[in-house]
Parts: sequence; structure tokens; C-alpha cells
Amino acid sequence: MAPSSPLFESLPLGPIEAAGRIFKTATAETRASEDGFVTDELVEWYQWLARGGTPLIITGNFYISPQGKSTYRMCGVDADDKIPGLTRLADICHRFGAKLVAQLNHCGRQVIVGHTGVDEPVSASAVRDPMMGAKPRPLRADELPGIVEAFAEAAMRCREAGFDGAQIHAAHGYLLNQFLTPHTNRRRDAYGGSFEKRLRLVREVVRETRRRVGPDFALLLKLNGDDLLPLRRGLRIDDNVAIAKALIAEGIDAVEVSVGHYESGFPMTAGRFDDFYRELVVHGAGQHMDALRRFSMAHFHRALDALSRWLWPPREGFNLEYARRFKSELSVPVIVVGGFHTRAAMESALADGGADAISCGRAFIADPFLVEHLRSRESGPRCDYCNLCLARSGTGPVDCWNPAVRAEKEKLLTAKGSIEPG
Ligand SMILES: Cc1cc2nc3c(=O)[nH]c(=O)nc-3n(C[C@H](O)[C@H](O)[C@H](O)COP(=O)(O)O)c2cc1C
Ligand code: SF4
Repeated sequence: MAPSSPLFESLPLGPIEAAGRIFKTATAETRASEDGFVTDELVEWYQWLARGGTPLIITGNFYISPQGKSTYRMCGVDADDKIPGLTRLADICHRFGAKLVAQLNHCGRQVIVGHTGVDEPVSASAVRDPMMGAKPRPLRADELPGIVEAFAEAAMRCREAGFDGAQIHAAHGYLLNQFLTPHTNRRRDAYGGSFEKRLRLVREVVRETRRRVGPDFALLLKLNGDDLLPLRRGLRIDDNVAIAKALIAEGIDAVEVSVGHYESGFPMTAGRFDDFYRELVVHGAGQHMDALRRFSMAHFHRALDALSRWLWPPREGFNLEYARRFKSELSVPVIVVGGFHTRAAMESALADGGADAISCGRAFIADPFLVEHLRSRESGPRCDYCNLCLARSGTGPVDCWNPAVRAEKEKLLTAKGSIEPG
């Protein structure tokens, strides 16, 4: 019998219990219909992950309102007619024993104007996002109750569809993060200025969502350990721990720790950036960016790849130091994401008090049977952190685009055999 490992011990997350501690983190699927409905292609994605023994699956970010939609073919939770499709996702996960948590998001300024139907991006303040190029319109105070309502309603739809929980996305520089961060929130009203005022929108979102969903539905939070906005007024670890504490008091059951805004570059997906920028401009969101950005990526892609690899090299547990701080101060489980793929690194993160659970993104894109393989110690397709999946994120269906790794993956999925998507 294989020796036991804390990775396969159950973990309570508020009202639910995950049957293990390796979770699939949110990775945008780009597999919904153009108007945000669940498709067979999306159900199939979850089918593989659930069959692979993943104890808890966090969906790619789902938009809570059309104004918050950041990519093409993104799944929506903005209307009741989406509920039957969402139910199919919950059913397929439950059929194989996986818990399903929907990541709820509003992109704010992090969108390519016109690409997804968002012609007028919004944010806390009119601070341009240098990555995508959008200059947002500041939301009026009288529009903010609508944002709170949209998050709470979206969570209710997930609950009705049979999901086990929802994750409020307050990381990666999206709208809620834009309100928290002084660099992007320059308001002088009740939602900007002091720590308490910048926190106010997120606090109201969590409070209202918890009030509506009741105590039996898990509420997770994705938060940065650091905004990584040097020379700008970004949030640091102390601020983020204080934010987490305030939101736990409003009903958050677990905190997943990540890093960065879009404006930080790619610290949140540290990797090898192997032909990344060329892929981004030929097949990815780069196609829809302005002429200057397209020109830079098309002509300087090798230099940009090398610079990115130097700034953000691949490393297992690249957010672990932040997670350790959260874990030492929070009363709820801490989930750490960032570069994990080996059992040794995951076990050591749990053993030395860095986190209560590990979440992985790219390792699951390469190998949906990752948990089964880690448990049995069999080798499976191994992500090499080239970031080609990231380069195509939001334009093509999420998948591994590294030819060698993908060939391994296809062999594996053929051997496992298809089942009816349900
Ligand atoms: C293709 C792709 C799509 C992603 N989509 C999301 C998303 O929808 N929501 C989110 O919070 N993070 C998203 N991320 C970031 C991941 O959740 C995670 O924080 C990051 O990839 C680091 O984890 P990893 O090293 O295990 O991949 C995405 C990453 C990739 C590679
Ligand atoms: S394309 Fe495949 S190998 Fe490359 S980072 Fe993504 S999952 Fe890993």
C-alpha cells in the first residue's frame, strides 16, 4: 500500500469538505458559447478533471454581468437562463466525487475594448491599464449597488445549479482588486481613499453574497499576496492580510493566495515564455490589441520572451512566502497557487506550514489526471511551463498547446476513453 500523504487527507472549507488537498485553480476556459452558455465542450473539460480524481475544482472566471466579461467565449452567470447549463457542470463533477466552486468575476478595466462587446470599460477610477490599453470610466457611486447585486445573484444561480461554492475574485487586478488598490482607486467618495473605504465595495459584495446564499454554501476568496506594482501604490502583504481578515469576518471560508495585476506583467504565471509573445500576437489576444502592441510583439518577441523568462522564471511554489504569512494570521484554510506540479514540493508546502491546500492551473491543463497520477506516483503528461496555453487564453479553447506535452496528453485521454458529457 502506498504510504499516506497529507495531500490526500480531507479538508473542511466552511460548510463543505474537499476529499483531498490538491485543487484545480481557475483557468479561463474559452469553451462556452459566444453568449456565455455552457457547451458540451465545456462539460467535457470538467469531465476529465473530475474523472482524474480532483477533489475540488474552481471554474475559470465566470462573468457576473455583461459589463464584466473579459474574453470571447467566456461562461456567464449573469442570467437565470444559464442555470440549466451550469447544472450540467455541477452534475458531471459530482458524478465523480469532485466539489465544484464557481469563480465569480468582473474584469473592470482589464479588457480589450470592443473585443468582447465591452465598449466602455469601467473601474474605480480612470486609470489606463497599460497591458490591454483600456482607459476605463469611473463607476458612479449609484452604480455600485448593482455590482454588489450582480455578484450575489450570480452566487445564487450557482447555488441553484448545485455548485458547492463560489470564489469571489479579488486578485489579479480585476474590478474588486481595482477598488482595493490605491494605484487604481483614486476616488474621493465613500469607496476610495482610506483602507476602509477602498475595502467597502468588496466587503459589501461578500456580506450580501453570504446573506443571500446562507451558511451551507462555501465562499472562497482569491486575493493577491502582493500587487507587485513597484513605484506605484500597490497593495503589499500586510494590506492583503488585513483585507483577508476583514472579509473572513463577513463570511469567507478559505483564501487562495496569488499575485499581481495585468499591469505587473506575468508574475502570476511565472514560466519559460517559450515563443510566448509570437503565439500571443498570432493566435491569442494580441491579435485584437492596438497597432503599437502588435508591432512590438511581432518584431521583438524573442527579446520579450527572454526578458519575461528572466523576470518571472518558473519555480514551484512561487507564492508560498505570501501564503505562509496568510496562514500564520488567518483563522480559515489557506490555498496556495503557483508553479506546483510535484508531490515533493506540495508535501513540503503543507508540512512546513505554508498552506492547507495546493492549487494548480497549468499542471492540470497538461494533465487532467494529475491528482490520480500524484497519488499513484505514475508519471503523466508534465507541464513544462512554456505558457503557450496562456498565450491563447481567451481566444481559443483552453488546452495544452505545447506539441510534445499535448501529444502525451492526447495519448492519455485516448487510453481513458470518452464518456457521454452528461
Ligand atoms: C490559461 C490560463 C488561464 C487562467 N485563467 C484564470 C482565471 O480565469 N482566473 C484566475 O483567477 N486565474 C487564472 N489564471 C491564473 C491561474 O489561476 C494561476 O493563478 C496561475 O496560472 C498560477 O498557477 P499555476 O502555476 O499552477 O499555473 C489562468 C492561468 C492560465 C495559464
Ligand atoms: S501549453 Fe501545456 S506545457 Fe505549456 S504551460 Fe500550458 S499546459 Fe504547460
